[in-house]
Amino acid sequence: MKEMTSEELLSFNGKDGKPVYISHQGKVYDVSRSPLWSKGLHMSRHPSGKDLTGEISAAPHGTEVLERYPQVGVLKKGSPEELKHLPSVLQNLLQKFPMARRHPHPMVVHFPLAFLMASSLFVLLYLIFKNPSFEITSFYLILLGGIASPFAMATGLLTWWINYRLKLTLFIKRKIQLSILLLILEIILIIWRVSDPAITNPLYFILMMLLTPVVGLLGYYGGQMTFPAEK
Ligand code: HEM
Ligand code: HEM
Repeated sequence: MKEMTSEELLSFNGKDGKPVYISHQGKVYDVSRSPLWSKGLHMSRHPSGKDLTGEISAAPHGTEVLERYPQVGVLKKGSPEELKHLPSVLQNLLQKFPMARRHPHPMVVHFPLAFLMASSLFVLLYLIFKNPSFEITSFYLILLGGIASPFAMATGLLTWWINYRLKLTLFIKRKIQLSILLLILEIILIIWRVSDPAITNPLYFILMMLLTPVVGLLGYYGGQMTFPAEK
């Protein structure tokens, strides 16, 4: 049985007339004849030319579907090609804990998204109903958002390094610009409110409302990267 490296496997992705190979638990299968793998992509989600051992656990079928297709080789042990740009300590760690590759960023981003959007909402409620407890709540929420957002930014930078090789795409550029803007806004607003608890300046409230579109756009650009819109 032919032994293949992860680099060789990568080119069998159905592009330019190449066959479609996928690997599962060290075995390489040729799924070129499957209509569900034509174009080299399965269910608009799973790319061919890769080891998909972990990904099949989320499928609505088991590994029996692989038996419909011929095994054409075995995959040589070692780090997958897409991790080779990382230091070997990190490569080993990510192979031991594959979840750490993509999960940390989506796991933490919901905290700044929820806290900061709720902070704007409570400012709006305060402006409508003039109830001071709404204003106080919005302040506590921006504090929580301010604590959570550096974690979102740190894990964002991490996933950019691990999964996008620090390539500066348009979406990433926007995310970095918006993250800097968000940090500046949070610092100004928190310092302003701490030094003037009875704040009435309309600019403060306008900036508080601005948190929602800024953090919303950060999430929107993130979602566009994770789930590219199908044209
Ligand atoms: C969440 C992810 C996945 C979804 C939603 C999905 C969905 C499906 C569905 C609905 C079918 C047709 C059912 C059938 O023919 O019995 C199918 C077939 C198949 N899937 Fe998946 N799948 C997923 C992940 C995977 C992965 C990761 C692999 C590879 C390791 C894989 C390999 C296959 C194969 C080889 C077939 C048979 C195709 C054919 O006979 O034409 N699937 N998948
Ligand atoms: C408060 C700041 C941030 C928020 C609220 C945020 C939000 C999000 C969201 C909602 C997603 C989609 C996650 C998913 O469902 O899979 C995402 C993905 C992503 N974000 Fe961020 N993000 C932030 C900062 C950053 C920064 C600073 C970077 C790096 C420069 C970054 C890079 C990425 C990348 C590369 C993805 C795609 C991840 C993947 O495909 O697995 N993010 N972000």
